[in-house]
Amino acid sequence: MEAESVKLLEFTLKGKEIGHKIYFLGKIDSTQNYALCLLQNFRASLHGAVIIAKEQSNGRGRMGRKWISQPGGLWMSVILEKCLTTKRIPIIQFISSLAVADSISKLTGLECKTKWPNDLLLGGKKICGVIVDVGFEGNKPTHAIIGIGLNANFEARSIAELGNQIIVSRVTTLRDELGNDTDLVKLTKLILERLEYYYSQLKEDKIKAIVDEWKKRSDFFGRLVRVEDGKKNFQGIAIGVDENGFLEIRLPDGSVQRVIFGDLGLSNL
Ligand code: BTN
Repeated sequence: MEAESVKLLEFTLKGKEIGHKIYFLGKIDSTQNYALCLLQNFRASLHGAVIIAKEQSNGRGRMGRKWISQPGGLWMSVILEKCLTTKRIPIIQFISSLAVADSISKLTGLECKTKWPNDLLLGGKKICGVIVDVGFEGNKPTHAIIGIGLNANFEARSIAELGNQIIVSRVTTLRDELGNDTDLVKLTKLILERLEYYYSQLKEDKIKAIVDEWKKRSDFFGRLVRVEDGKKNFQGIAIGVDENGFLEIRLPDGSVQRVIFGDLGLSNL
């Protein structure tokens, strides 16, 4: 991705809510941190602003994990400041994943699967992760920063070369899947347009429709899964996701455990 094509992209998205302003940077620590810094230092509205970096030195994943962000990936944050309610906040991760999945499908024909809470998988391997950082004043959400990390134009095995042997077997990239590189400007345009579409659905509180759409793309439901919620590990059948974004697991004793935070995997029993 080059600066001129990003300028052109910004121009084509003028008049839209999301993407009318794009900050395109070389190597920074994290687009999430950069977005937060903008919010803390700018008086003007940043609603719909997008931050894209070629490379991140300290990319952040969920649960305090490091997100390896070498050149060739799509490392992007989107700022939302309008129409945020506590009910809508947990659904932002689903609209973001859906926007990316639709766009990958349209541009490449690859059909990603969703994995609770915010991963996209191809062939069972992670291709994209989403993080949503939210700011509050009292109980009221004031901003949400959507962070999208999409493994695109590099090989997963290069992550191992960067020293992360363990995760590499569970990771894939667009280059690994397609055998060639993807036009990241086109992909970003599609993602921002789909995000605008799903955000308009969210503003109309079509939460059930969004969650149902997200669930349709998951193959975890009805299967025996293992959940690590930071405190304990347990197994059960994944039966659904409610309108608050909680994962519902039927435990062996028949009761239903609702999970708001954690990691999900298929059980190997
Ligand atoms: C996860 O799966 O744990 C979420 C990963 C999110 C990574 C993206 S890359 C762009 C943005 N900036 C960051 O520091 N993190 C997110």
